[in-house]
Amino acid sequence: MLKRRARITRSPYSTKLVGRWHDAWMAATPVFDLDPCDPAFVRDPYPLYAAMRDLGRVCAWRQLGHRCVARYDDVNALLRDRRFGRQILHVASREELGWPAPAAHLGPFHDFERHSLLELEPPRHTRLRGFVNAAFLPRQVDRAAAGIERLAQELVDGFAGRGTCDVVADYAAPLAVGVIAEFLGVPRDLGPRLLAWSHDMVAIYQARRDRAIEDRTVAATGEFSAFMREVVGTRRREPRDDFLSQLVTASDGAGRGLTDDEIVTMGILLLNAGHEATVHALGNGVRAILEHVPAAAADVVASPAGHVEEMLRFDAPLHMFTRYALEDVEVAGEGFRRGDVIGLLLASANRDPEKFAAPDRFDAARSPNPHVSFGAGIHACVGAPLARLEMQVALRVLFERLPGLRIAEPPRVKDAWHFRGLESLRVAW
Ligand code: HEM
Repeated sequence: MLKRRARITRSPYSTKLVGRWHDAWMAATPVFDLDPCDPAFVRDPYPLYAAMRDLGRVCAWRQLGHRCVARYDDVNALLRDRRFGRQILHVASREELGWPAPAAHLGPFHDFERHSLLELEPPRHTRLRGFVNAAFLPRQVDRAAAGIERLAQELVDGFAGRGTCDVVADYAAPLAVGVIAEFLGVPRDLGPRLLAWSHDMVAIYQARRDRAIEDRTVAATGEFSAFMREVVGTRRREPRDDFLSQLVTASDGAGRGLTDDEIVTMGILLLNAGHEATVHALGNGVRAILEHVPAAAADVVASPAGHVEEMLRFDAPLHMFTRYALEDVEVAGEGFRRGDVIGLLLASANRDPEKFAAPDRFDAARSPNPHVSFGAGIHACVGAPLARLEMQVALRVLFERLPGLRIAEPPRVKDAWHFRGLESLRVAW
């Protein structure tokens, strides 16, 4: 059955298909031949990740056009390996890499990304990361706990009498966007607007990407940036007790502050990263609990933290991140030339039986639970303490208030692969 869906071969590459792949190095690399938009794969990618792990330490995913690692030890090591980076243009030019000029219509999006923590490497990354680290220390984040609890209770008040709700649309989404908006200091009632901009912006990272998606991303980038620029201007004039005001007034060791462009990108990145993954981690996780651990309510309420870690391991919201080789380098006997891309399959690493006993079983008592859903190394998720707190409070409140929770309709998985989430999770009680 697996073979029908993914054609797995050990044949040499066609350079036509794989661009910069190198025949001499790669003739022996196993090829993974699977459309990442295949509906069956999108519905349940885990059996195919298992097939990829069995295939070898490094596989070439033909349709993605680059190689991937799927085993825990390799994913974990590469996340921390400084010979690989999220960006390459700080050490090599487009001409050297043989890249075409960037598409003109994507200019505004690239201008935004130029200042993004997520797209930078040291030394700029170190400088920008220094500004946000302090705000996300656990003791800072704990200050948000009361606000998260209040918002979660309000949302449940809104649907508790109905007997049914959609966990994603009625609970996880408004909660996650409300929490990050409040944290940053952006009006919470703008939630739906922020959600729409954010969805349109992150759509560009999907495997399924076309000109219409790119145009929507560019339009959303322009509108979202104009909005943030206005908020930043207001905070410069009248600082408040919020994160954006901290960014506006902060300076680094050399007494230099952030530019408006840097703050605008940081604000948007935090708003986008701060809720997209959290919404889906909650949706996927509540589904996993309801499907795998019947009558779990009392356990969830007693140990939300253990449940949250297992939710993150069992069905992570972000399945793959890529890195560029910053120099010629060898990994697991495979040669990578400067500029080569490698995909790190976080969600596969989390199900590696070499690391996790019975990995396909949802076990909230698993300890330790060293999943890589928040990444590792210099780009490790800066918002992880906030995401953890938010998920723990959200989960506890939901099961405390609605102990009879059950799935009412088959959950619908979003038609996107590496942002794994549910379109809807309709439950009843
Ligand atoms: C369950 C929720 C979340 C998950 C699973 C998640 C996952 C991740 C992962 C895997 C990375 C590393 C990407 C890489 O290595 O290439 C990352 C980075 C990042 N995340 Fe999260 N995240 C979550 C929530 C949040 C929240 C709540 C925020 C902000 C409030 C946030 C902000 C960021 C930022 C700014 C980065 C970039 C860090 C850097 O490049 O230095 N994330 N996240």
